[in-house]
Amino acid sequence: MKVFLPTVFYLCMAAGLSVPSEKIQREEILPLNTTCENSATSRSCCGEQSIDTDHYDVIPDTGVTMEPILDFDGTEPGPTIMADCGDYVIVHVTNELPDNGVQVIDGLSGPMNINRSATVDYDEHLVALFLSDWSHETAFELWDCSEKFGAFLLIANGLINGTNTYDCTASIDAAYLGTGKRFEMTFISGKKYRIRLVGAQADSFLRFAIDNHNFTVMANDFVSIIPYFTDSIVVGGGQRYDIIVEANQDVSNYWIRSIVKGCNVIFNANANNIRGVVRYEGVADTTSHPQTAISANVPDSCRYVPLAFLPPHRSKTLIEDGKSVFSEAYNLKEATAVNEWVYVVIQDLSALNANHLMDVHGRDYYVLAQGAGLLLLGITKLNLVNPPRRDMATLPGNGFMVMAFYTDNLGESEIESIIVTSGVLDKSCTAWNSYTPNERYVHDDSEI
Ligand SMILES: *[C@@H]1O[C@H](CO)[C@@H](O)[C@H](O)[C@H]1NC(C)=O
Ligand SMILES: *[C@@H]1O[C@H](CO)[C@@H](O)[C@H](O)[C@H]1NC(C)=O
Ligand SMILES: *[C@@H]1O[C@H](CO)[C@@H](O)[C@H](O)[C@H]1NC(C)=O
Ligand SMILES: *[C@@H]1O[C@H](CO)[C@@H](O)[C@H](O)[C@H]1NC(C)=O
Repeated sequence: MKVFLPTVFYLCMAAGLSVPSEKIQREEILPLNTTCENSATSRSCCGEQSIDTDHYDVIPDTGVTMEPILDFDGTEPGPTIMADCGDYVIVHVTNELPDNGVQVIDGLSGPMNINRSATVDYDEHLVALFLSDWSHETAFELWDCSEKFGAFLLIANGLINGTNTYDCTASIDAAYLGTGKRFEMTFISGKKYRIRLVGAQADSFLRFAIDNHNFTVMANDFVSIIPYFTDSIVVGGGQRYDIIVEANQDVSNYWIRSIVKGCNVIFNANANNIRGVVRYEGVADTTSHPQTAISANVPDSCRYVPLAFLPPHRSKTLIEDGKSVFSEAYNLKEATAVNEWVYVVIQDLSALNANHLMDVHGRDYYVLAQGAGLLLLGITKLNLVNPPRRDMATLPGNGFMVMAFYTDNLGESEIESIIVTSGVLDKSCTAWNSYTPNERYVHDDSEI
């Protein structure tokens, strides 16, 4: 996702990994079960696909094209795009905003749900739950202020699925109305709910928890993982985690929490009050705030989910082919060959101690290592046995990350964050300079 502060990274790239010929290493491979209906007790199947289908090799195709008509009408998050695994989705956007409304932070956002198999059974699918931070200034204003004055940012609030409370009584701006309201959802005792947590924040890292309710994490980004049980999870901007929460507590009201953690140099004025409410159906008191407290077990850290927690369900193992590593001084590498493995070492030398999310457009990648301090080439151990796969992993502040991917999706794969430019990027800069005087909406190259 985007960052507001300049940082210095170096990247090394090499064609130095390959998969063994049999590719998949699994203890058992289940045959596809074409008669299996996706139901509350058989979520592992999905038409002719199942949780064991290798979607890197098998591309599902239902032949159906969805062209949803979405009316955002001021909603945040907006309406959901629903599709089945294998559908084509075409989205037309009519932008009638007077100002630029298509950039990431202040733009439109909404869930896209693709029905597919899961590693854990559940009764109800609540689609998505957006966690965000919320500023009363636009992202461009914040960026401008931070860039010009080096100011640390103070964000006013955070939202749970687009809503939260805020005390507007002191404001003289007529646009500030009331005190807002909290997100609420209803649980029916005994049911299991699937919720996709979506990190829709500009920058903060948010620890999600529901008082008294542990939950099962079963997917990171769009990749099914071997499920694990936890009391909370830290979600970074752009990350998605699918969780299953079981309504197995007393019929009562419980706080949902999205706690801003101090893993970045951005602060939130409402850090401990970004909350929603779970009300069990049949509870006597349907209006009061919950009286619950956060579990003492929930760690007070901003630690991202360790790699060891996220091995994918569909196992894949890489092998090193011994080719040497070479350094790319300018953070830019033209991958000329297709169908070749590359790996990228990213080292944060900024000394800011701020975590960054690293996103590769259009694909997921293998996360081979992630840690604090300096990566020592040849010494730091890479995890090649079923490493986590995702499209948005955390580069720890002052730390390193090693990612690998296969160049089988032609086009530009941009590893996104702010990198220091150099002569190598002249071609892009020239194109940008000739484009900006004629663009419809003026903006600087802040990437937001
Ligand atoms: C396929 O799924 C159906 C419905 O869940 C189940 O009854 C059947 O045993 C499964 N067949 C195989 C070969 O696993
Ligand atoms: C997706 O699954 C939901 C139930 O979870 C169902 O209502 C819907 O019809 C399915 N397909 C699409 C394209 O929405
Ligand atoms: C959050 O909002 C989205 C979009 O309006 C909706 O589809 C989803 O069900 C909401 N999440 C929950 C948990 O209610
Ligand atoms: C949740 O998990 C923690 C361990 O992380 C455990 O101590 C606690 O008892 C669990 N709580 C519930 C309600 O299952």
